[in-house]
Amino acid sequence: MPDSFTAADFQTVTRVVKNRHTFKVIGDVDSPVKIAHPLAQRYRATVMESVATADAAPFHYDRACNNVAQPWRVNILWHESCQKIAMNFYQWFEDVKPGNKIPAMLSACGACVLVSWLPQFGDVDDQAIAKSKQIQIDREHLAATSAYVQNLLLLLTAANMGTYWSSGGQFGDSAMMDRLSMDHGQELLAAVFIEFPQTNGGHVKRLPGKLADKRAAGEAWMRVIEL
Ligand SMILES: Cc1cc2nc3c(=O)[nH]c(=O)nc-3n(C[C@H](O)[C@H](O)[C@H](O)COP(=O)(O)O)c2cc1C
Repeated sequence: MPDSFTAADFQTVTRVVKNRHTFKVIGDVDSPVKIAHPLAQRYRATVMESVATADAAPFHYDRACNNVAQPWRVNILWHESCQKIAMNFYQWFEDVKPGNKIPAMLSACGACVLVSWLPQFGDVDDQAIAKSKQIQIDREHLAATSAYVQNLLLLLTAANMGTYWSSGGQFGDSAMMDRLSMDHGQELLAAVFIEFPQTNGGHVKRLPGKLADKRAAGEAWMRVIEL
């Protein structure tokens, strides 16, 4: 057992976990947030470090895809690319409702990190493995990727960045994946919109998660089993 952590470390981690909140940051496509070069460089380095560190998430099965054991794949869009997508969004997706929030969020974020998982048996029925086992393995690839996403959210929170775990809407469409040259076989789990500190200067709307106040107290969902 590692024993190198202090009570203060525990308190810090607790504080980070409790202070991770969804911030949906809504900007203006016609007047996107601008991020000064030195700030952008510094925050991008922090995002890259967090993306790398989040890889410490647990995973149960060797996904063994292109010699990579982890079941997650990560694609990073910096804010210039986000803004290009925002500007082209309605040409690329003609069937999208006018109020779609993705372009507005892409106009405000410093980065958008797309986290996907790699289903192993979706279209493949491996006769050597029972169907129930295939389902379990895929479920656990997905669960591991969720652990990756939460790691990432916590690290970014600790770096004073705003985060929003979105299902990703059109980012999950194969047409968008083609435009972003994402490998087929990836299934989007999260589009993490990241707000860089000190960049939005009040020109954005910041909305909380819709279930943020809906949590039931611990007694409602946990119990201790005493035998
Ligand atoms: C798998 C997953 C997908 C989510 N997708 C969306 C989404 O597409 N739209 C949205 O408004 N919130 C989405 N959320 C964020 C939740 O709304 C948010 O976590 C919830 O309201 C609780 O608020 P909190 O994150 O501040 O605790 C998602 C969260 C998870 C875990």
